[in-house]
Amino acid sequence: MKSKTGVDYQFGVKNNWRRWQWNRIVERLRVLNKRPKNCLVLYLPGEKDLDRPVALSKRFSPDNLIAVEADKTVVDKLRVRGVNCIHGDLGKVIENWPDKEPRIDVVVADYCCGITEVVATFIESFNFTPGVSDKFVVSINMLRGRDSWSNFLREQDTVFGKHDQKHRGMQFVYFLMQPYLHAMEMVAEDICNCQHCGASAEKNVVFQEKFMKHNWARLYDYTKPEFQTYSSVMGNMKMDSVVFIWGKTVCNLHDGQEDIIVEHIQSEKSEAVLMYEKKRKLLSDKSVIARISAAKAVRTMRLEVGV
Ligand SMILES: C[S@@+](CC[C@H](N)C(=O)[O-])C[C@H]1O[C@@H](n2cnc3c(N)ncnc32)[C@H](O)[C@@H]1O
Repeated sequence: MKSKTGVDYQFGVKNNWRRWQWNRIVERLRVLNKRPKNCLVLYLPGEKDLDRPVALSKRFSPDNLIAVEADKTVVDKLRVRGVNCIHGDLGKVIENWPDKEPRIDVVVADYCCGITEVVATFIESFNFTPGVSDKFVVSINMLRGRDSWSNFLREQDTVFGKHDQKHRGMQFVYFLMQPYLHAMEMVAEDICNCQHCGASAEKNVVFQEKFMKHNWARLYDYTKPEFQTYSSVMGNMKMDSVVFIWGKTVCNLHDGQEDIIVEHIQSEKSEAVLMYEKKRKLLSDKSVIARISAAKAVRTMRLEVGV
């Protein structure tokens, strides 16, 4: 049956996909030594809030499941049913999540669009919000298409060594990694300029390719991404998903590498940190912070009273 907003997310393929998603989330939390019941989750609920029963069956705590919904009519309906729901944009809520406990351990974003400008802002927020745990799990589902804003990402030929220029999950992770990959490229160039100076152009190209491959492998191992694609209920739209790990410690991937790389990454990193600090101040939004505080107060009250 269709909801009043006109979209029904309760159908076989999507139900299977939802279970697939939560299983992948739990697997990654296990790698991080985190128990579902202690993890704070932000998610896009939709009118029927179909993720909640699946999350509860995986032992997440009902008090730690905080919905974020842009549509006010959906928010009102969910609140009547007792769901702790923040009205607003998920990216803005993550950007403004405060630098204290409880921090965000899991983000579940089942979008109804592709990589649009709003989604890109959401992606970037992961790199500068102080409100996330050192390592956290992200699950994204996106529509393939109608997102000309991100056409430039489709021009890349290889992501994670797989040739799939259309998969929005692959592009999502690739976009998130851009600052790190850029830093690595600069480092590779620097090494060629000093350590390998005098080497032939061919040798330098081989070195740079090997270096980037090695760093891709490190990022892959850190993020442990798993990808999926399914067809919508009408069969005429494709949805792409990815579940992966991200975190503040992604900057420490240089551990154990040569000094020159460490030095270079540190300076790239401090530049990036400064840039993100500025951006965070710019994006700080008092009304969003107030809504987050209200949702946190509801959570605390429920945990204490046990309702
Ligand atoms: C696809 S539905 C979620 C369905 C649900 N996960 C399920 O499995 O049935 C996405 C919901 O998120 C809301 N939404 C979309 N983009 C959003 C954003 N950037 N911030 C907050 N809510 C958003 C939509 O209004 C919609 O209710």
